[in-house]
Amino acid sequence: MNCTIREWRLSDAADLAAALSNPKILDRLRDGIPYPYTEADARAYIEAMLSADRDSTFAFAICADGRAIGSIGAFRQGNIHVRTAELGYYLAEPYWGRGWMTLAVRTLCEKLSRETDLLRIYAEPFADNAASRRVLEKAGFSLEGILRRNAVKNGRVLDMAMYALIRAPGEEFFPNAIREAAVSASAGDNDTAGIFR
Ligand SMILES: CC(C)(COP(=O)(O)OP(=O)(O)OC[C@H]1O[C@@H](n2cnc3c(N)ncnc32)[C@H](O)[C@@H]1OP(=O)(O)O)[C@@H](O)C(=O)NCCC(=O)NCCS
Repeated sequence: MNCTIREWRLSDAADLAAALSNPKILDRLRDGIPYPYTEADARAYIEAMLSADRDSTFAFAICADGRAIGSIGAFRQGNIHVRTAELGYYLAEPYWGRGWMTLAVRTLCEKLSRETDLLRIYAEPFADNAASRRVLEKAGFSLEGILRRNAVKNGRVLDMAMYALIRAPGEEFFPNAIREAAVSASAGDNDTAGIFR
């Protein structure tokens, strides 16, 4: 089974609803996502992504065997942060632990490296979200600090961890040596080799 990222399709709505309607995922995300997350909710999200400004919203379905099993997106910020994007992602629970999110993050960041003027991509997982922090570390992000008592989620005050990937203007996010190491690490695994170009 190959894992890829691709543009959203309206026909992904049922798969997206099945993936996201899971408290184990919603508990790790910002508030504002309904539970249960219905096919109508998913359709509205997909429509919004498909009609968004293509130079500001970089939102993709994560797919296996052509079906959406997760979501990844980078969202350009405004004002003085215009060359910064926030990264967000989740994967349907049955697919956790295969290295797929790490590859999805790498794939999207390589695409952003080639196709945008972004200089900084950041993510802010809750500090106790060890899996997400590990994904970011494996994907080459650096921990910049802990944002203490930065969120209230489900009534709990939580720290968040600020991770970022940066580059200088004209450079790539991933030096070649790092990219080649990641590709060869995935090349022997039929489950993941397909995600890279
Ligand atoms: C976080 C998430 C995207 C990870 O996806 P994934 O495909 O399972 O990630 P990967 O397999 O690429 O990597 C996960 C890593 O975390 C590690 N990990 C998982 N659970 C862990 C835990 N409780 N403690 C420590 N490490 C953990 C895995 O062992 C793996 O590291 P390894 O390759 O060194 O063994 C997925 O769990 C998810 O969707 N969670 C809910 C939503 C979420 O947290 N989104 C991110 C919000 S910032």
